[in-house]
Amino acid sequence: MIIEPRTRGFICTTAHPVGCAENVKNQIAYIKSKGTVVGPKKVLVIGASTGFGLASRITSAFGSNAATIGVFFEKPPAVGKTASSGWYNTAAFETEAHKKNLYAKSINGDAFSNEIKQETIALIKQDLGQIDLVIYSLASPVRTHPENGVRYKSTLKPIGDSYTNKTVDFHTGEVKEITIEPGTEEDIENTVTVMGGDDWQLWINALMKADLLSENFKTLAYSYIGPKLTEAVYRKGTIGRAKDDLEKMAFTITDALKDINGKAYVSVNKALVTQSSSAIPVIPLYISLLYKVMKAEGLQEGCIEQIHRLFNERLYLDGIPTDKEGRIRIDDWEMKASVQEQVAELWQQATTETLPEIGDLEGYTTEFFNLFGFKVDTVDYTKEANEMTAIPSIA
Ligand code: NAI
Repeated sequence: MIIEPRTRGFICTTAHPVGCAENVKNQIAYIKSKGTVVGPKKVLVIGASTGFGLASRITSAFGSNAATIGVFFEKPPAVGKTASSGWYNTAAFETEAHKKNLYAKSINGDAFSNEIKQETIALIKQDLGQIDLVIYSLASPVRTHPENGVRYKSTLKPIGDSYTNKTVDFHTGEVKEITIEPGTEEDIENTVTVMGGDDWQLWINALMKADLLSENFKTLAYSYIGPKLTEAVYRKGTIGRAKDDLEKMAFTITDALKDINGKAYVSVNKALVTQSSSAIPVIPLYISLLYKVMKAEGLQEGCIEQIHRLFNERLYLDGIPTDKEGRIRIDDWEMKASVQEQVAELWQQATTETLPEIGDLEGYTTEFFNLFGFKVDTVDYTKEANEMTAIPSIA
């Protein structure tokens, strides 16, 4: 069928299999261009189909020839209806991995559930024995708790006072003020339940109990800090409380792993256009200014460049550099004083009229559509594409 983008708010409800495959191949080509390096050998990626999780899977497989199992929650295709982009990304990833004789299998389902954990455990036992790295890269607005069956919703709200600032509707380019009312105690608790460290711990405990973690095992989850500009809605908001909880959990998990000399880390990554970040108010305006500055300074990175640098210049060094809170920092270029000073200055000037000039709104929008396989240079969108594209080894 001919597939076109169809957007609803900050999501795109269609995806293009050929465009998604091109994106994945470009990421693989980037990693291959860097050569084989010391890295993981047998990896589980939870949240493996898009964004940082997909980049982590690609870096593991094509950077150090790792066998990978990917877990994610994506919509499969139906005749006349496209799958979600993570489905097509994974189809392309597995196809490329298998061409290189790399083990790659995937599980599509709710990673928060006991069933998917057990299914993953059975697959690791059967095919890999023990694994040496687990990447935890889930981003979800909801979590059904496996014990009490309650469906918790996360929120993106400030805490204490309402928050007013500029934001951009990146589809129209309109810059306007928005006010977000503060979250309640319940909003905070729910957001921590969905995006905090609890599920990460459940995964690692279940894998450890099944004796599937090798000596010197590592696990890594992703966090964000960001500048003062976005602090009220991000790091000091409800989602920030969840990130505090996730970061604390790294220490608890490390304690639990001491018999196998295992370690849990949190890496603080750079702000990037992904399906999750486009849903956060204020962040798209911040990102379009940030991209402009980072591109001008030659510092811009996407998910794949970030994760390649994370593996090669942090995670697989003998002594892993961390900040005083024990976190790995790969947001160092975003947080450079020279970058942040320029962004803060541009923020003051940003209006509907000035943004196309002073910000990288076009880059933002292009990257947003790229997430769904659209606006990819090398793809002819007038050609029929196979919406039924399958993932070779889906469980
Ligand atoms: P994303 O939306 O691109 O990817 C989320 C992944 O989680 C997908 O593979 C999706 O299928 C999977 N997923 C969601 N719900 C699931 C469920 N119930 N069961 C199984 N899989 C599920 O997100 P992104 O941006 O890559 O985020 C990953 C992590 O990185 C998050 O912890 C996020 O906070 C963090 N991060 C993101 C930054 C950004 O600017 N995008 C910056 C720094 C950290």
